[in-house]
Amino acid sequence: MATLIPILYIVAFSLFIYGLMGLTGPKTAVRGNHIAAVGMVVAVVATLLMPGTHNWLLIILGLVLGTLLGVPSARQVKMTAMPQMVALFNGVGGGAVALIAWSEFRMTAGFTDEPAYVVIASLFAAIIGSVSFWGSLIAFGKLQEILPGRPMGLGKAQQVVNAVLLIGAVVCAVMAGMGGASELWIIGLLLVAAVLGVMVVLPIGGADMPVVISLLNALTGLSAAAAGLALDNTAMIVAGMIVGASGSILTNLMAKAMNRSIPAIVAGGFGGGGTLPGAEDGVERTVKSTSAADAAIQMAYASQVIVVPGYGMAVAQAQHAVKDMAKLLEAKGVEVKYAIHPVAGRMPGHMNVLLAEADVPYDALKEMDEVNDEFSRTDVTLVIGANDVTNPAARNDPSSPIHGMPILNVDESKSVIVLKRSMSSGFAGIDNPLFYADRTSMLFGDAKKSVVEVTEELKAL
Ligand code: TAP
Repeated sequence: MATLIPILYIVAFSLFIYGLMGLTGPKTAVRGNHIAAVGMVVAVVATLLMPGTHNWLLIILGLVLGTLLGVPSARQVKMTAMPQMVALFNGVGGGAVALIAWSEFRMTAGFTDEPAYVVIASLFAAIIGSVSFWGSLIAFGKLQEILPGRPMGLGKAQQVVNAVLLIGAVVCAVMAGMGGASELWIIGLLLVAAVLGVMVVLPIGGADMPVVISLLNALTGLSAAAAGLALDNTAMIVAGMIVGASGSILTNLMAKAMNRSIPAIVAGGFGGGGTLPGAEDGVERTVKSTSAADAAIQMAYASQVIVVPGYGMAVAQAQHAVKDMAKLLEAKGVEVKYAIHPVAGRMPGHMNVLLAEADVPYDALKEMDEVNDEFSRTDVTLVIGANDVTNPAARNDPSSPIHGMPILNVDESKSVIVLKRSMSSGFAGIDNPLFYADRTSMLFGDAKKSVVEVTEELKAL
């Protein structure tokens, strides 16, 4: 057994890393996911084979309950609700790590006679795991719209309160780590870290949620690695470091894509305030509506059309209809490209996944930097359920809460047609001046229904 367990762990890590490599492209992503899942099964089996494992009834009960909850919820979750699901699963991981640290405290009679590295790693895991669990629950609440998406904080006092809470958690950790200390210290640590997790995520506005979720993900990974160190469990160390490292890289990439610094995000406030749609501030806002027939004529006589998909395309599940419409346009000699903003939708790569599912050729998908210069040469830009990622206020209005976030330069096109149901705002909760621009016309309605109508009109031309 002493040699079998490390061998099984090595097999598990290799499968994790090989599976992760598969996630780099849409064609290999599903297989990559399955490979990593097999790796996880191997890791669980190896852990259960460890000497001293008892309480089989509890273990089996946990496995059955977890499977009964996890499998149906993962199967039923809608693509648009995936970020909430990720936030929830991630939070549960952090919570589990915090509970492991607490149980270590109890099993070692308050870390009596434990080496310093075990004590420090356990306490680090307890703080970060608890912050991650409670922070993820708040992120889940915001994404599920149980809580308001706007920043909710204490203003200038927020950072002082957060600093006091962090110091409080560290003081509890030092007291709990002294050896044989009262259990109240570790309970206090978990509670103070819980309040800290809530206080850090509540003031963060909607538009920053993608970065926050991947940051919490990275934190959960790091806390799991620390717990692995304390328990001398190589599987937890390696898996935790993989999650921590990939989560940190993703956080960095997303923060760069949003032109935000991570400390500024954690300090909070982004994505709140700003002008609400329909604000009565004396500024004239008129919109031009168009019909499916007019939109079809405009596009049929264009030489290039750029499609800008956003969250609304995912809600309407319009990707297949969009692909059919594009095929028809191409048959009429129109060049069709898709402009992909890095945070369009509600999860990284959301638009790429949807369009790949509809078999849109990958080379027609253009990243923001690649396509932004092309808008000024484009006859028609068709915005399908995208809002925040096209908002020119991010570029032109220093008072806008999303000022500085890179956007797709849709407003530079010769004409713009926006498909959405109403004048409602997007995730950041602010108005979009693009909708009132002279060159813009709005085609109101569900995105899929509108695209199908435009396609019918194109066929009739
Ligand atoms: P949003 O700004 O959220 O706008 C989506 C628009 O789609 C809404 O204005 C909505 O307007 C419209 N819509 C919804 N259902 C529709 C339907 N059935 N048919 C037609 N239109 C529909 O989307 P975006 O431009 O993709 O920007 C993404 C936002 O989400 C950013 O603020 C980003 O920071 C945030 N976010 C992103 C992620 C990641 S990682 N991608 C994760 C969390 C949050 P109507 O209601 O009027 O139809």
